[in-house]
Amino acid sequence: MKSDNSEKNIPRHVGIIMDGNRRWATKHLLPRVAGHGVGVKNIKPIVKAAIDYGVQSVTLYAFSSENKGRAKDEVDSLIDLIRKHLVPLSKEVLSLGARVRFFGDITYFPDDVQKIIDGIYREGEGLIKSVNIALNYSGRAEIVRAARLAAENGGIEESSFEKYLYTADTPELDMIIRTGGEKRLSNFLLYQAAYSELFFTDTLWPDFGKDELISLLDEYSHRTRRFGTS
Ligand code: IPE
Ligand code: IPE
Ligand code: MG
Repeated sequence: MKSDNSEKNIPRHVGIIMDGNRRWATKHLLPRVAGHGVGVKNIKPIVKAAIDYGVQSVTLYAFSSENKGRAKDEVDSLIDLIRKHLVPLSKEVLSLGARVRFFGDITYFPDDVQKIIDGIYREGEGLIKSVNIALNYSGRAEIVRAARLAAENGGIEESSFEKYLYTADTPELDMIIRTGGEKRLSNFLLYQAAYSELFFTDTLWPDFGKDELISLLDEYSHRTRRFGTS
């Protein structure tokens, strides 16, 4: 499939804000939390389609730092889903020739989940393609953390600063897709979004399919990016 796209302008790094799970559940007369279980099943096919298209890096917004403030039942069930799905997802990602990494403060999660994450981190080292999962992630916290690390290590210059972001060895964030109809970033990759092309779709995350992803990627390839210079 990749060869079909050889002439296309393919985004190197795509961020996806996977929003709309609870509204999907309500629409289907299910308890709101049930939407997360359906949403999680959509991750593998979308990641596969993006990588098959030729995208090098995909960052998935799975759990924001602010999401910790939701009802305890919901947070617990999100953590259970993470516990259950991370290993199978990472196996699938490795089989696509990409590694899995995590953006965010994972010390928040229970020890067993942190162990799973550490184990996954070690697999796939050296692979260029990556699928990054933002867990307990906050764009502002990432910037503050990078500033602190840069200051501790000799000073804050734009180039050295970027070494301390989670995206240090990830290509430019060319494109952000947000499902679920809201038109905001909700604290996702704030530094990296400087010149990203933004795509918002009303489709709720569990309904977001491969065909829509490919039509957005095709739309990206026709956009003119000026970076302020022309
Ligand atoms: C996105 O869906 C998943 C997470 C934030 C964990 P939501 O849970 O925000 O669902 P909506 O947007 O309320 O429908
Ligand atoms: C953003 O969605 C976070 C994730 C998709 C993980 P939210 O549902 O948390 O964002 P808001 O509350 O609409 O801004
Ligand atoms: Mg939401």
